[in-house]
Amino acid sequence: MTVYEFAKGLILEAGINVRKIMKEDIKVETKSNPNDLVTNVDKATEKYLFDNITETYPNHLVIGEEGHGHHLKDEVGVVWVIDPIDGTLNFVHQKENFAISIGIYNNGNPYAGFVYDVMNDVLYHAKTGEGAYENGTLLPKIEDTPLKTSIIGINPNWLTKPRLGEVFKPIVEEARSARAYGSAALEIIHVATGKLGGYVTPRLQPWDFAGGLIILNEVGGVGTNLMGDTLSIYEPNSIIMANEQLHSELIEQHFQKNNEIIELLQQRLKSNN
Ligand code: IPD
Ligand code: CA
Ligand code: CA
Repeated sequence: MTVYEFAKGLILEAGINVRKIMKEDIKVETKSNPNDLVTNVDKATEKYLFDNITETYPNHLVIGEEGHGHHLKDEVGVVWVIDPIDGTLNFVHQKENFAISIGIYNNGNPYAGFVYDVMNDVLYHAKTGEGAYENGTLLPKIEDTPLKTSIIGINPNWLTKPRLGEVFKPIVEEARSARAYGSAALEIIHVATGKLGGYVTPRLQPWDFAGGLIILNEVGGVGTNLMGDTLSIYEPNSIIMANEQLHSELIEQHFQKNNEIIELLQQRLKSNN
């Protein structure tokens, strides 16, 4: 069995477990602030993935949101970047609209991405160079769209921030409309399936985007930070995921103009890391 096939089976199994445990008691705790939640299901799912990966592939490394391998900095070897539940607030409040996300990188190169929309039982998956799939169906390449006819994914909280608000408000004004789904992994998938023209945010962790990025790249989409730089799976970053035309338009017409604010943001991301 290839690593790709193994990962596909594993994420589906993890999803079955999530659907089972969530019918019982969901225990919610807070992390860095009262709105930063984690549950017993996040923790159990990460442990399930970690134990199965390291048992099957003792040489592989794992970076997971709930504590595994945060210290990894070295691009050597096979690294699994996992978010056991992306969209924990949705999980707690809505019991839907969340995903399990896995990105697998080999010596820093993308190998395979998986985003499992657990409650809809839809698995998005891609192996680099072989196209992206929604369950068994090959996804078509995404179409280019200008901002004025695009729907943009953005968390509205960012519009309330004094300096970053100045950067993001004109994008929302110029776009056809904006949406917030509450799961970065699913928002990247919405770009990969053409439901959104693009998704922008000033900060994501590697486990939020590692799986989705590989899927998006396979359908011709582009993912970088707000300066247009390549993303690393070892550090948090600002994010723009979009079709090619919209990506260039956002960088050239919006983010480059706000050079100073974006550079400050990048410095902060680095120093907090
Ligand atoms: C969060 C979600 C959310 C995004 C946050 C992430 P979590 O992940 O993806 O949509 O805006 O930045 O931290 O905590 O639910 O895994
Ligand atoms: Ca996440
Ligand atoms: Ca999470």
